[in-house]
Amino acid sequence: MILVTGGAGFIGANFVLDWLRGSDEAVLNVDKLTYAGNLRTLESLQSDPRHIFARVDICDAAALDTLFSTHRPRAVVHFAAESHVDRSIHGPADFVQTNVVGTFVLLEAARRYWASLDDSARAAFRFLHVSTDEVFGSLSPADPQFCETTPYAPNSPYSATKAGSDHLVRAYFHTYGLPTLTTNCSNNYGPYQFPEKLIPLMIAHALAGKALPVYGDGRNVRDWLYVSDHCSAIREVLARGEPGQTYNIGGWNEKANIEVVQTICDLLDAARPKAQGSYRDQIAFVKDRPGHDRRYAIDARKLERELGWKPAETFETGLAKTVRWYLENQPWVDEVASGEYRKWVETNYTKRV
Ligand code: NAD
Ligand code: DAU
Repeated sequence: MILVTGGAGFIGANFVLDWLRGSDEAVLNVDKLTYAGNLRTLESLQSDPRHIFARVDICDAAALDTLFSTHRPRAVVHFAAESHVDRSIHGPADFVQTNVVGTFVLLEAARRYWASLDDSARAAFRFLHVSTDEVFGSLSPADPQFCETTPYAPNSPYSATKAGSDHLVRAYFHTYGLPTLTTNCSNNYGPYQFPEKLIPLMIAHALAGKALPVYGDGRNVRDWLYVSDHCSAIREVLARGEPGQTYNIGGWNEKANIEVVQTICDLLDAARPKAQGSYRDQIAFVKDRPGHDRRYAIDARKLERELGWKPAETFETGLAKTVRWYLENQPWVDEVASGEYRKWVETNYTKRV
């Protein structure tokens, strides 16, 4: 089996669902269930013996040791993290704890377990760390995309803690020989994304008749990747990546935020027209995010060259699927947008408008 951390979150849950659609190899899903973790997403696996769920914090070394020795996974795919940049600005402590300390505790537990394996199991073992393009900092419009050798220059507490975790993973390969792999991916979107992030937030606000809060001038650029393409890239890297290497994953879809928001409005205008006017009328430019990175862009050619991976979705097909999914799964959104989430919206947006 494989051990997945953070498998009740957005990308982790998509990964688990995709994995079990294509394989009978079991998944041990280790998740603390923070506000971002939601077992409802994994409802279809409730009576599936290939999915074992453990509500465990990755900072809990003893619980991790027990999970490793009981289930004896052949690989770890590490998604668990605090993942929202705005939350890291309001409260960085949880980010240091989970992203840095948690990754360290997990690496130590994996190393203890790995050291106990026989030679062939040791050689086959993999620790795949899922990271972000944000560790590379911010690009100007004319800069080339981030490649695997771009120097790290994280600018937010979130990206700084992800950079810290990447460095620990690198060190465990070089110092102890733990067979690690690291992926640095661009912005994901798709089903089951928590509505604090740009795309699901705009869909939810549009349908609720609320303002669509675009930070700053709306010209910040992100490189968008449909979540199932991220999952397929991770499967490739896990299967055939070279230990010690890092792989950039991206969709070749650079878009300014305002363009993304306008496209969402147009898709909603077509699918669920308003009584009067367009959803575009709800767009409101609000106070910028402090330290807001201007542009991210990923050069994913290494992954294509070495492992033959390419994204299957374009931004147009992926966004259309995403908007449709949110329209058809309103109860999922209503459930996750609970009391805690409403408090967050107040914290992040009230003083902005
Ligand atoms: P998410 O916030 O939706 O989910 C995170 C999951 O981790 C949740 O299920 C949460 O309960 C769990 N978790 C948090 N702290 C934990 C802890 N201490 N112990 C155990 N579980 C814990 O995040 P996501 O968007 O799915 O991102 C997953 C990973 O991918 C993260 O490492 C993130 O840095 C990385 N990433 C995300 C994106 C993106 O666009 N969302 C892009 C590139 C990389
Ligand atoms: O690049 C990969 C990263 O992408 C991941 O590592 C992070 O986990 C993930 O959250 C995401 O980070 P971003 O900060 O880019 O994503 P977010 O959806 O928060 O914002 C996308 C862009 O939209 C960003 O430029 C800020 C802007 N934005 C966001 C929100 C929530 C707005 O203009 N208004 C908003 O309300």
